[in-house]
Amino acid sequence: MSLIELKNICKSYPLGDGELPILKNINLQIKNGEFVAIMGPSGSGKSTLMNILGCLDKPSSGQYLLDHKNIESLSSDELADIRNQMIGFVFQGFNLLSRTSAVENVELPMVYSGVDKTERRRKAEKALIDVGLKERMYHQPNQLSGGQQQRVAIARAIVNEAPIIFADEPTGNLDTKMSVEIMHLFQQLNRDLKRTIILVTHEEDIARFADRIIHIVDGEISIDEKVMH
Ligand SMILES: Nc1ncnc2c1ncn2[C@@H]1O[C@H](COP(=O)(O)OP(=O)(O)O)[C@@H](O)[C@H]1O
Ligand SMILES: [Mg+2]
Repeated sequence: MSLIELKNICKSYPLGDGELPILKNINLQIKNGEFVAIMGPSGSGKSTLMNILGCLDKPSSGQYLLDHKNIESLSSDELADIRNQMIGFVFQGFNLLSRTSAVENVELPMVYSGVDKTERRRKAEKALIDVGLKERMYHQPNQLSGGQQQRVAIARAIVNEAPIIFADEPTGNLDTKMSVEIMHLFQQLNRDLKRTIILVTHEEDIARFADRIIHIVDGEISIDEKVMH
């Protein structure tokens, strides 16, 4: 059965007296261990869909089953727990704390989940090694390149051993060379650490690193394709 299952998901925002539909009848299944790109032009609804998948927002109608649990039936505390245990996020702008070392940035999610100090440091260092930043653990964000900062953000997303990583335009602020490196890292996390990866992009060249591309146009899925590597 699927790790993620969307049934007739719609999302609209209030507009004047009525509603502006953004997502229209999205039906989608993603299995544990997949590496999926959600691709579409700017404004097509990718981030709206990602926010629903990541339990940061709720659909206007339809059903979302995450790990067989119906998201609609959960309290906000239960949702927060699910986000902590199941999901790591990576964003375009890295979202690191400045004047705070890489290792301390990576420790943050564990501060919230109550892991003790020694264990936090051990896990954060391991995650930074996993993303190739062994030599940069005690650098602050302004001492790191964009690609290195994004690696720190990815380490922070994997450190709780969350099985799912959501990445919204993670290469949007990076040049081509760094983008390719970051996409290779996602492939490695998918293959070696068995993380399910769902990555949003408007760029075909980036989407091609995934094993499956879901094309979204004007709030609807137009094509769902497998990628041959
Ligand atoms: N909170 C909101 N209120 C009203 N409209 C929104 C809101 N968030 C997004 N939209 C609109 O929904 C559409 C899709 O946005 P988004 O999901 O961010 O697209 P993408 O990530 O594909 O660029 C856009 O037209 C955007 O203006
Ligand atoms: Mg977006």
